[in-house]
Amino acid sequence: MNKRIEEARAIIGNIKKVKLGFFPTPLQRLDRLSERLGVEIYLKRDDLTGISQFGGNKIRKLEYLMAHALQVGADTIFTYGASQSNHAMQTVTACRRLGLHPVLYLTDLIGSDQENPYGNLLLDRIMGAEIHLEPSDGVDMMVAEERIREKVKMRMDTLKAEGRTCYEIPMGGANAIGSLGFSEAYVELAEDLQRIGKKAQYLYHATGTGGTLAGLVAGKKLLQSETLIRSIGVGIGGEGYEQRVVHHANGALALLNRPERVLQEDLAVIGGYYGEGYEVPSREGSRALRLLAEMEGIFLDPVYTAKAFSGMLDHIRKGVIEKGSTVVFWHTGGATALFAERKILGEIFR
Ligand SMILES: Cc1ncc(COP(=O)(O)O)c(C=O)c1O
Repeated sequence: MNKRIEEARAIIGNIKKVKLGFFPTPLQRLDRLSERLGVEIYLKRDDLTGISQFGGNKIRKLEYLMAHALQVGADTIFTYGASQSNHAMQTVTACRRLGLHPVLYLTDLIGSDQENPYGNLLLDRIMGAEIHLEPSDGVDMMVAEERIREKVKMRMDTLKAEGRTCYEIPMGGANAIGSLGFSEAYVELAEDLQRIGKKAQYLYHATGTGGTLAGLVAGKKLLQSETLIRSIGVGIGGEGYEQRVVHHANGALALLNRPERVLQEDLAVIGGYYGEGYEVPSREGSRALRLLAEMEGIFLDPVYTAKAFSGMLDHIRKGVIEKGSTVVFWHTGGATALFAERKILGEIFR
């Protein structure tokens, strides 16, 4: 494995990136929870990636996406998401760090108060991002993104006429370039595990737009690793989801000039822990969020990581994860949602 890790590092090292985050992020053993559940659980702390105090998984993707943006001479970055998008907020931090102008088209699923914003929308405002908040009218995120295309095009044309060069990052940074960040992350995890002399049987994480998953499976191919990746679906799925993930993963491998290919059967996207909808908390998610906070002093977020963690806990309870196994849960960030509109957090104390 040692040699493969070194080779994978070298292969990924050939691709240009800008240094934005604090890496490697810690791999932290959850001592008390592991003892209680009879499974050794490690948390990969990508909530601590930086750039700001409020990190998350998108910083890894942005290191590659922003390098590409700079390479093509961009000075203005467009991106998309919900009003409380973690991806959008992290993109703004990256723009500010690099001196670029951030333009956000955000879909308002929860009726945000623009005069009195909370959570990520507040942070976006503090950083002075150009924010276009669009009503959702009850459609899902993918449909909403399609509907704003015309407005985006008009705004881009105006900016171009002013001499600006615009670069678009898709929702969640989910494309082949962004996924490279998580192929590198997979190699980083292999290095972490090697350092502490552990093998992980399972890796759990929340999958949304699918860029994180695409990068992880591509990284796993690169290393020929045997860890089972289980991806808990937390929304933004829809038709053709797995095909899109495979497409991004293979796009990342192609950028790395590698012959390996990811197939749909390499993915294990698990439903059943999403609850009633995106930005709608689930009871099991709220319990998982409280459990980790009470036992380890670490916060999950209600939209992504708490739902995914509840899936992992359920698998432990049901024996889908055997006692004595070693499991890594990838903490992808998002805790700013704790301070967003209260309906995102829901009845946390019940
Ligand atoms: C906190 C958090 N966890 C997980 C995800 C899912 O990552 P991805 O969109 O790459 O599937 C996201 C973003 O969508 C997120 O903000």
